[in-house]
Amino acid sequence: MANDDERLERLQGMLRQRGILLPAFDLYGGAKGFYDFGPVGGRLRSRLNQVWIDHWLSLGNIVEISCPTVTPYEVLEASGHVGEFSDFMTVCGQCDEASRADTLLEAHHPNPDALSQSELQSLLTKVNPDCPSCPTPEWSPVVAQNLMFSTTIGAGSSGRPGFMRPETAQGMFTSFPALYRHFRERLPFGAIQVGKGYRNEISPRQGMIRLREFNMAELEYFIDPNERPNHDFSSWSSHEICLIDGDGVSHSMTLQHAAESGLIRHPTVGFFMGKTFDFLSSVGIDGTRVRFRQHASDEMAHYASDCWDVEIHGSYGWIECVGIAHRGCYDLEAHETATGKSLRARREFSEPKIREIDGWTIDGGVAGPAFRADAGQVKTIVESFDADVEFPVEVTLSDGRNLAVAAEHVKRVQKTVKETGEWFIPHVVEPAFGIDRILWHVLDHAFEETEKGGEPYRMLKLADSVAPIDVAILPLFEKDGMDDLALELHQLCCSTSGLVSLYDGSGSIGKRYARSDEIGVPICITVDHQSVEDRTVTIRKRDDGSQTRMSMDQLPFL
Ligand code: ATP
Ligand code: GLY
Repeated sequence: MANDDERLERLQGMLRQRGILLPAFDLYGGAKGFYDFGPVGGRLRSRLNQVWIDHWLSLGNIVEISCPTVTPYEVLEASGHVGEFSDFMTVCGQCDEASRADTLLEAHHPNPDALSQSELQSLLTKVNPDCPSCPTPEWSPVVAQNLMFSTTIGAGSSGRPGFMRPETAQGMFTSFPALYRHFRERLPFGAIQVGKGYRNEISPRQGMIRLREFNMAELEYFIDPNERPNHDFSSWSSHEICLIDGDGVSHSMTLQHAAESGLIRHPTVGFFMGKTFDFLSSVGIDGTRVRFRQHASDEMAHYASDCWDVEIHGSYGWIECVGIAHRGCYDLEAHETATGKSLRARREFSEPKIREIDGWTIDGGVAGPAFRADAGQVKTIVESFDADVEFPVEVTLSDGRNLAVAAEHVKRVQKTVKETGEWFIPHVVEPAFGIDRILWHVLDHAFEETEKGGEPYRMLKLADSVAPIDVAILPLFEKDGMDDLALELHQLCCSTSGLVSLYDGSGSIGKRYARSDEIGVPICITVDHQSVEDRTVTIRKRDDGSQTRMSMDQLPFL
C-alpha cells in the first residue's frame, strides 16, 4: 500500500473512532454513499455551515432562505433536470457492478467528463478498462442514468410524482417574486440556502467525496445583465492564483487580471472566486492546495454559460469542491415559460423612449366571452403580431391547445407610447458549495502525524472557527474536589460563554490530551490539587503543547 493510502486509512480510522465521521447504518452492514456526522462531527458540520452563512451575509445584500427538499416533478422538469441530469453508466456483465463510464476511462482520456455518450462508448469498447470489482470485465452498452431519487407526493389517486432535490438552487428561483419584493425591487441581490441535496450516484466509492445524500450550500445572485459591476478586487491584488482555462492551460495570475483579460467572463464570477478562496482559508483549507479550473464548453451543465470548479488537493488528488457558474437567465426563463408567471425585474431608462405602435390587441367585449380563461394568453399572442397579419389566425396556447382567432376578436392599435423602463429576466451567478467535500479536506489538511515518546501521535490542527469543541476541562483526578471544581468550570463554560466544552475525567491525563488533540480541541484546561486551593488552572494549547497557569476566574473567555 502506498504511504498516502496508509495515511488515508489512519485518518479514516481516527475519524471513526473519535465520533467525527462514521459510515451510516453500520449496524445493518452500512449503505454506500451515506455517512453519519457523529457526536463530534455533527458540531463540526454545523460550525462550517455557520461560517459559510456569515461569510455571505456579510456582503450586505444577501438573505438566507430554506425551501423543501421534496420537489414536485413540474419544477424539475422545467429546470431541465428530468431531461438532462444524468451520468453515463455501464454495468459489468461478470459481477453486476454498475460504474460511471467516464470514471472508468479516467486513465485513458484527459477529461472523460466532457465526452458524449457515443464517444464514451467508442473509447470503452477500444480500451476495455479494468472493472473495480472483478478481474474479467464485460461492459454493457453505455446508457444515460438520471441521478434524481424519485418519490410520490401524497397517497392514492391524488399522489403526484416528485423528486428529492438534486440542488438547493431551484428553491431560490421559485422564490424569486418574494426575494424581489423583499429587496424593494432592486438588483443585485442574492439568496443563500444550506441543506441536503440528493443524487442517486451510480458508484459512490470515495468516502465523503461522492455521497447519495449530501450537504449543499448555495448562493444564487441575481444581476442585471446590462450592468457591468465594479467589484473591489483589491484584497487579492498581491495574490496570484492558479487558474486552468477551458483548454487545460494553466495560468498564474491575479483575479482582477483574469477578469480584465476576459479569461473570467463576468466580473461577478471573478469576485465570487475570490470570496470563495477567502472562505476556504477561513475554515483552515491550505491555500496552496486550491486551484480554479474552467469547464470546457462541452463539459458545462445544461444551464451554464461559464463555470469554474474550485478544486482542492488532498488524499484523493484534486477534487472539485465548489462550482461557480454563470447560469444566465436559464432558470428564471424556464420557470416563467412553464408557469406563465412573470419572473422579471424592471430597469428604468435614463431618458424615456418614444415608441410607435402599429399592431393588434383583443377586443375585450367579444374575445372575453369567447376565450374566457384563455383570453389573457390570447391577448399576449395577438399583441406580438405584426400589423400586416390577416385574420383568422390559429394560435397555440402554452398547454398545446389551438384556438382560432377571428377578425371580430381583435382590433387594430396605432399609437405613440412613452416608455420609462422595461422588464427583463435577471441573470444569475451561482457559487455552489459541497459542504461534505470541503469538510473532508478541512480534516485532511488539519491532520498532522508526529511522534511522542517513540509512539505515533496524531492531531487535528483545526481552525478555531470550525473546531467542534472549544475547550476540554480535565480534572487531574476525579477526587479531592478536583472533579467538582472541573464540573463547575465546565458548566460555566457551557452556560455563560456560549462555548462548547467537553468534560473528560477518564484515563491518564496524557491520554486525555491525546484524545483532545485528535478531535482538534484548541485548548485544554486542567484542574489539579493546587486548583482546589487557589482556583488556578493550567491552560494547555493544542498546537504547541505550551502550558500556562492562571486564575480560573480570569479566563479570557468567561
Ligand atoms: P461531480 O462532477 O464530482 O459529480 P458535479 O459537477 O456534479 O460534481 P455540482 O453539480 O457542481 O457537482 O455540485 C456542486 C457541488 O456539490 C460540487 O462542487 C460538490 O462539492 C458537491 N457534490 C456534488 N455531487 C456530490 C456528491 N455526490 N457527494 C458529495 N458532494 C457532491
Ligand atoms: N446548483 C449547482 C449544482 O448543483 O450543480
